[in-house]
Amino acid sequence: MLLRPLVELGWNLFQALSTLVVTLLLLPSPGKLLPVVAGRTTGSAYRELGHIAFWLSFSLLGTMLSVKAGSVSIDFRDVGSLMAGATGGPAAGLAVGCLSGSHLLALGGPTALACTANTILSGLVGGFVRRWRAAETEAISIPLALVSLAAGVSRVSLTVLLSGTSDALRTFAGVLPMVGVTLVGTLATMSVLSRIGRMHALQSNKAHYVALIEDSLDRTLDLLATVVDARDEYTARHSTQVARYAVAIGSRIGLEERQIAELWVGGLVHDVGKIAVPDAILSKPGILDESERQVIKSHAKEGARILRIHGGLLADMARFAELHHERYAGGGYPYGHPQADVLIGILTVADSIEAMASHRPYRASLPLPEVVEELKAASGGKLHPIAVAAALALIENDGSPHHWRVERPDLRCLVSTAADRLEGQVLNA
Ligand SMILES: [Fe+2]
Repeated sequence: MLLRPLVELGWNLFQALSTLVVTLLLLPSPGKLLPVVAGRTTGSAYRELGHIAFWLSFSLLGTMLSVKAGSVSIDFRDVGSLMAGATGGPAAGLAVGCLSGSHLLALGGPTALACTANTILSGLVGGFVRRWRAAETEAISIPLALVSLAAGVSRVSLTVLLSGTSDALRTFAGVLPMVGVTLVGTLATMSVLSRIGRMHALQSNKAHYVALIEDSLDRTLDLLATVVDARDEYTARHSTQVARYAVAIGSRIGLEERQIAELWVGGLVHDVGKIAVPDAILSKPGILDESERQVIKSHAKEGARILRIHGGLLADMARFAELHHERYAGGGYPYGHPQADVLIGILTVADSIEAMASHRPYRASLPLPEVVEELKAASGGKLHPIAVAAALALIENDGSPHHWRVERPDLRCLVSTAADRLEGQVLNA
């Protein structure tokens, strides 16, 4: 008893899906679609075809297991297309609606056309409910719905026009809408598959985009740091060294990957405001007077202003430039407020260590024991105690800051936001 409906279901499914695949192969751009149909999209196309096949078989069963109650026929065909739409979107609902509707049209009968229209409509309704819930923007479903409507209208029109003519023409008129709905179903499935293909292609390209942006960012930041450090011949490589020390201290504390990356970028750009300080003041060998000191101090705010001009990632790093001369307990510049942010504190400690541990024309570098004493004396006052404790631990383990082992951090975590934005643009194109 059960075998016959199962065989019928298998046969109908085979017919519907083979029609779909053959039509896909005959479409104008099989080169683009074949890889998708062949499943070269990490299995997504198979999953989508499986999804359509599942609800299509459900819908076909709904027709085959219909029960007569008097003159009314009760079936659950529309549930299949509705669920296909509700779980896969309008295109999937339309695909199942059209394929299942074609089967019903082939069976014939006075209500076949109206029931087919219902099945298609159910698929679209399910799809639009899903779109409404997921706020999707796949514009193709509206034209497809209009095409399916046109197929229904053409069936009625042709039947009326050809009534009274030969049987052959009437048969032709009866077959036309079936071909129409099958084609619409195919187009709907194609839109689902091509979207999957596009997403797959984008995913495989995303890693490439991220690597590209990260490399550009790396080089731009290096260039910026080199330009800043070149302004003052006595402090060559200052920014790079500060970045290295800050990363070492941050890693010692156990900060997250993104915070480590921010410390690296913050170190490279923290003195960018020195570009605006005149050479005569920046490289003056003697003691600075008060007005010259004010000009030097302006580099903190000026750096933040420069970094904020173009927004984006560098604007996020402007706080390092603005606040790296503030003190933990207050009294620094430009604002003099207490500065308890641990990332800023780490950069300030790194800046101080670099200043003490490097040679200057007017003084030699401080011996390591003196650097340790200076750090201890400033902890909790000028410098953040957590950052100082981590720096002292590093000195105890690895000795001079020049010997600290620092791995250049991965900036991908900072870049991924930009890549996500790019992905959104391509998908919505
Ligand atoms: Fe500075």
